[in-house]
Amino acid sequence: MIEPEKQQGEITEQEREAFYRVVFSRRDVRGQFLPEPVDDEVLSRILYAAHYAPSVGFMQPWNFILIRSRKVREKIHAAFTKADNEAAEMFSGERQELYRKLKLEGILESAVNICVTCDTSRSGSVVLGRTHIDTMDSYSSVCAIQNLWLAARAEGLGLGWVSIIDEVELRKILNIPEHVIPVGYLCLGKVSHFWQKPELESVGWLPRIELEQLVNFERWSGSAGEEHVSLVQQLQKDANFPKKSQ
Ligand SMILES: Cc1cc2nc3c(=O)[nH]c(=O)nc-3n(C[C@H](O)[C@H](O)[C@H](O)COP(=O)(O)O)c2cc1C
Repeated sequence: MIEPEKQQGEITEQEREAFYRVVFSRRDVRGQFLPEPVDDEVLSRILYAAHYAPSVGFMQPWNFILIRSRKVREKIHAAFTKADNEAAEMFSGERQELYRKLKLEGILESAVNICVTCDTSRSGSVVLGRTHIDTMDSYSSVCAIQNLWLAARAEGLGLGWVSIIDEVELRKILNIPEHVIPVGYLCLGKVSHFWQKPELESVGWLPRIELEQLVNFERWSGSAGEEHVSLVQQLQKDANFPKKSQ
């Protein structure tokens, strides 16, 4: 076995704080895009951050389809509008009314759109780590998207994920082959500002769930035994940690 090289250097306190600030101040952006281009130097860094995401079996199943063409974006926007109307019909009453008021994409206003895909055949049919759960390859592309999203925030850029599009339509518009899954359609660009809270939280669509309610012990829904009590207390104490970092 070849001995792998060790990493150099610790993460400093300042770097750690910067990381958490990026995490907690990241937003899904759709209505605050500015009509300004993104420098290629910045875009390149963001794409590298995405490419250095973890992937099952080091499969790196992603491609990044960059879309600047107005014509292509108009087609995507039309597909969104159709799906958005269908989606609105799935809610009723006040909920539908609120849904219709939400701005859920920035396809035409953002500087660039990026479709992140998952090529299920990237490293052959048997992939280390994907042998028993097929979806692991798509999860890897999601990891790339999250890296991309955080890198964008670190660069001061906004990013919005648009998922309200019929997949068949999206495949047709972007000429995506059968064995490739369009995992995420993203809008990226300079923004006027970032909101403090998720828009869906601010408009009362859903509240943020307390983390403490989501941490289980030893089994699904398992409550905290004696050995877990101090962590539960710490979670309660840290309830303000994200807000401090924003
Ligand atoms: C898989 C995925 C799909 C999403 N699709 C959409 C979408 O189609 N339109 C939209 O406005 N936001 C979309 N979002 C953004 C979420 O609404 C947003 O992340 C959530 O409300 C929390 O807000 P925040 O990202 O600003 O913290 C999506 C997010 C994820 C992770």
